[in-house]
Amino acid sequence: MTANSENTGKKVFIKTWGCQMNVYDSTRMQDALEQDGYSATSVIEDADLVLLNTCHIRERAAEKVYSHLGRIRKLKEDRAGTDRPMTVGVTGCVAQAEGREIIARERSVDLVVGPQTYHQLPEILARSKTDGPQVATEYAVEDKFEHMPAAQKKQVQARGVTAFLTVQEGCDKFCTFCVVPYTRGMEVSRPRQQILDEARSLVDAGVREITLLGQNVNAWHGETPSGAAMGLGHLLHELAAVQGIERLRYVTSHPCDMSDDLIEAHRDLDVLMPYLHLPVQAGSDKILKAMNRKHTAAEYLDIIARVREVRPDIAISGDMIVGFPGETDEDFEATMEIVGRTNYAQCYSFKYSKRPGTPGAEMDGQVDEAVKTERLAQLQALLGEQQEAFNRSRIGKTMSVLLEKPGKHADQLIGRSPWLQSVIVPSSIGRIGDIVDVTITDAAPNSLTGESARQAA
Ligand code: 5AD
Ligand code: SF4
Repeated sequence: MTANSENTGKKVFIKTWGCQMNVYDSTRMQDALEQDGYSATSVIEDADLVLLNTCHIRERAAEKVYSHLGRIRKLKEDRAGTDRPMTVGVTGCVAQAEGREIIARERSVDLVVGPQTYHQLPEILARSKTDGPQVATEYAVEDKFEHMPAAQKKQVQARGVTAFLTVQEGCDKFCTFCVVPYTRGMEVSRPRQQILDEARSLVDAGVREITLLGQNVNAWHGETPSGAAMGLGHLLHELAAVQGIERLRYVTSHPCDMSDDLIEAHRDLDVLMPYLHLPVQAGSDKILKAMNRKHTAAEYLDIIARVREVRPDIAISGDMIVGFPGETDEDFEATMEIVGRTNYAQCYSFKYSKRPGTPGAEMDGQVDEAVKTERLAQLQALLGEQQEAFNRSRIGKTMSVLLEKPGKHADQLIGRSPWLQSVIVPSSIGRIGDIVDVTITDAAPNSLTGESARQAA
């Protein structure tokens, strides 16, 4: 590695699309580049290196990246021949899926780096300067987790009181709509000790709430020091015992990996927040089968019932897709029904979008765009009602709120409820990083307002 921790005055601008995994990866790439002499900038015109960390999950992802690159090309051309040329890289899932095609189509791009090769970023960058455009989308044999710099104290401090921690990456469930198994590769769990070490360094840097990340986070598996198999429930117990961790969350889970241990962790661990993101995607068994979800609607509802039994105040969130190939009006009604029965505190919903290379894209019975639009509107109306009702049900209640950041107005702070709601409070209530008791006075569709519980009492 061309390691060089001195600040050379070089600046990197990273634009991130997509999921929390990409947010986490951008942070890690930034850490790796900081060791290489780069500092971060939020002003693209100031950057020596521009990285687009892309998402391929839905819609015209690649087209969006190309149109962005067209604009960046102009900036790059203006800098050509000066003493500060601009280097442009595409990372993330579009990089993985498109590979060399990106360089063929857009001459401004110097490097294309897939998620499995981020730890080699400084070398790839150096090579692009001497040998021309680089494409690195091989699945690396080494464990990328071993090579990424651990979260660093001073950097984490600047980043706040909540943090993501990747514990698992990739997916081998092969839902027929999804590109993730192709862009992020097979399921890999990060070793237990690495996770505990990173959690401790996050806490040392002032983090109070950690969200464990994985495309299939509840498939995480590891080994105890004595070599016994352990799952996410056990890992959560170990993390809960780390001094200074006040709150734990995990995302995203698959119903088939919701083990008894994990469900019981929701009963036994106070620091595990009462919030579960458990996507079902559809309500009809026929569609679930075509999606290769490997569970039925009844099995999903049974898991929800078991989780609610051990943790009655748990908020359930999910993901839904409308218009998967073959979805009839009746199938869609089943989606509305499972939403009605689950009663989500929050739920993301999408129109099915054909992803090249996935089985769904080749299936008969593709649904008309107008029908998808109509179904999505109907579904979102119901989900909106459920979310608002959930938020309203907090009015008058007192809850612990982690103060996270300044609010829109100088006399406000924004915190998070145990159920992941944003809570707007007067700044006199405490300081960022404090966990305070707040009584909720008002609720909007996307946030709550509260005041100090002492004041309210
Ligand atoms: N079309 C629409 N939505 C999709 N998702 C994943 N792939 C597709 C697709 N091809 C949604 C799923 C998943 C979420 C991250 O994105 O609901 O849970
Ligand atoms: Fe997008 Fe999925 Fe890749 Fe995340 S893992 S960036 S959501 S395609």
